[in-house]
Amino acid sequence: MTRPLTILGIESSCDDTAAAVVRGTQVLASVVYGQTSLHADFGGVVPEIAARAHAEKLDHCVEEALAKASLTLAELDGIAVTAGPGLIGGVLSGVMCAKGLSAATGLPLIGVNHLAGHALTPRLTDQLAYPYLMLLVSGGHCQFLIVESHDTFQRIGGTIDDAPGEAFDKTARLLGLPQPGGPSVEKAAKSGDPKRFALPRPLLNQPGCDMSFSGLKTAILRARDSVVAEKGGLTTQDQADLSASFQAAIADVLIEKTRRALDAYLALKPAKPAFAIAGGVAANGTIRDGLKALCAGLDTDFVAPPLHLCTDNAAMIAYAGLERMAAGMTDDLTLSARPRWPLDQRSAPMLGSGKKGAKA
Ligand code: KG4
Ligand code: ZN
Repeated sequence: MTRPLTILGIESSCDDTAAAVVRGTQVLASVVYGQTSLHADFGGVVPEIAARAHAEKLDHCVEEALAKASLTLAELDGIAVTAGPGLIGGVLSGVMCAKGLSAATGLPLIGVNHLAGHALTPRLTDQLAYPYLMLLVSGGHCQFLIVESHDTFQRIGGTIDDAPGEAFDKTARLLGLPQPGGPSVEKAAKSGDPKRFALPRPLLNQPGCDMSFSGLKTAILRARDSVVAEKGGLTTQDQADLSASFQAAIADVLIEKTRRALDAYLALKPAKPAFAIAGGVAANGTIRDGLKALCAGLDTDFVAPPLHLCTDNAAMIAYAGLERMAAGMTDDLTLSARPRWPLDQRSAPMLGSGKKGAKA
């Protein structure tokens, strides 16, 4: 039996500085330093602040991950780093750090697509066999991918504007609930009536798996304004009802679009059909339960990696790098940082920017 590879992963594409050590499918250490408080006053991630914070923290992160794994650099087989897509200053910080380590140690360097890291996580956590369907849904991403190999992804749909996490965060701001918005809207929604406000289900009447969430943000703003105009403010029950109505709209869209994505995937007749989710929004109970029930009805396994591996982390980068290295796909010091890097080169490019930088 061949010895499993041991890979150091480095992630710095958005607002989390992370390093991890993975051996085979075992996470030996995973360290994440968030930057939420640094950006809190600005309503989004400030690229320059993010890049400086990454540059300051990366060395410590790597040292801490190696110490937690009780390993030295000499005991590694390779160094994997997110080379895009993301905020370019942050991606550059990580790539330069990885190049320095690779040049100093002679270890192979492996450039990893951040989205591939998310998409391959179910193989790290559940040893899922190819092909499987993945819904990546977070504050920065929302797309359906048929994952055929570590290097072959078919993007069969996604948001044409905002990501659902952005919409949750905006809704929380509008309702005076704390950030991050997803958990606080979910909590408020528990005592709310999801039918009180009739919010739109954008693009549901159109075929395919594309989604849109920007109109929903406007609709929740209007609904809130009409209550405020009528009563002069929002009661706790109004907040709960608005939260529940908003969450129901997002869940309905994600579940119906997933049904369609599953149709396309199941047409490939996979031996063991499986659907996996990743990203912060996958933590939402209503969305998760709806997707689970959908899969149960279609005899499809439902895989939800633990939340700390669903959100941004470096273990997923180390693991994606491990699969690339095992396939002989390493890079050299000419590796460049890419702000945009679609996983599926055949799909049409996404235009515009999200809260967290250019869309992939
Ligand atoms: O994957 P993630 O940590 O970071 C990136 O966006 O890359 O996702 C964060 C997003 C935030 O927008 C947050 O509000 C949302 O995930 N989120 C949730 C929940 N927990 C986090 N949205 C809905 N329900 C939740 N329970
Ligand atoms: Zn991410």
